Amino acid sequence: MAHKRAKLDSWSLKAQKEGYPARSVYKLQEIDQKMKLIKKGMAVLDVGAAPGSWSLYVLRSLQQTGRLVAVDLKPFKLKGNHPNLFTMAADIFSQEAGDFLKQKGPYQLIISDAAPNTSGNRLVDTRKSFDLVEKVLNLAETQLAPGGAVLCKIFQGGDEEELFDRMKKSFKTVRRVKPKAVRPESFESYFIAMGYLKAQALDSADE
Ligand SMILES: C[S@@+](CC[C@H](N)C(=O)[O-])C[C@H]1O[C@@H](n2cnc3c(N)ncnc32)[C@H](O)[C@@H]1O
Repeated sequence: MAHKRAKLDSWSLKAQKEGYPARSVYKLQEIDQKMKLIKKGMAVLDVGAAPGSWSLYVLRSLQQTGRLVAVDLKPFKLKGNHPNLFTMAADIFSQEAGDFLKQKGPYQLIISDAAPNTSGNRLVDTRKSFDLVEKVLNLAETQLAPGGAVLCKIFQGGDEEELFDRMKKSFKTVRRVKPKAVRPESFESYFIAMGYLKAQALDSADE
């Protein structure tokens, strides 16, 4: 156990050294290194972005090309000058967030590390996580460019298979991963869907 803790702490230390606000960046890094999700010039939407590690990783990968739109309930600020970053402090379920994201879209990649504050009641927590992913998929239906990809965190132990099946219908490939930086006791995992199949008028819907 002591060994495991030391290993977990090493993710935080590494994040500190590399200038990231949170250790969660290494979950995205591992997935991106395998799946090559982020490419220069693309438009990326980051849902549940605070304190900003994933956003910073995306910005570093974009190398001042493309754009990143980031939304979270909590406001956050990244060090440095990022002219291609657009942030909003809002609830992803709100109309104002919907309007903002639509105005800045479409996106080639939507990433969501959004998670509810855990209550300790697994049924409640997995339901809230389900609702967040469902919202992300609704957003994808209107704001994701054909061929685009979605990466989203999901709490396991609820009805997540329903979401997985929904994703299988509209993406070429869908898989689930549990990156090494996820704490072993955690019930979170990630769905990755690539190759969005639905060609539709991206600006016609109001989700
Ligand atoms: C695990 S943190 C994200 C960490 C982030 N990816 C990073 O690397 O810095 C989960 C975030 O989801 C956000 N969140 C939860 N529900 C949300 C909602 N309804 N709308 C917007 N953000 C939400 C929380 O405020 C929290 O900041």
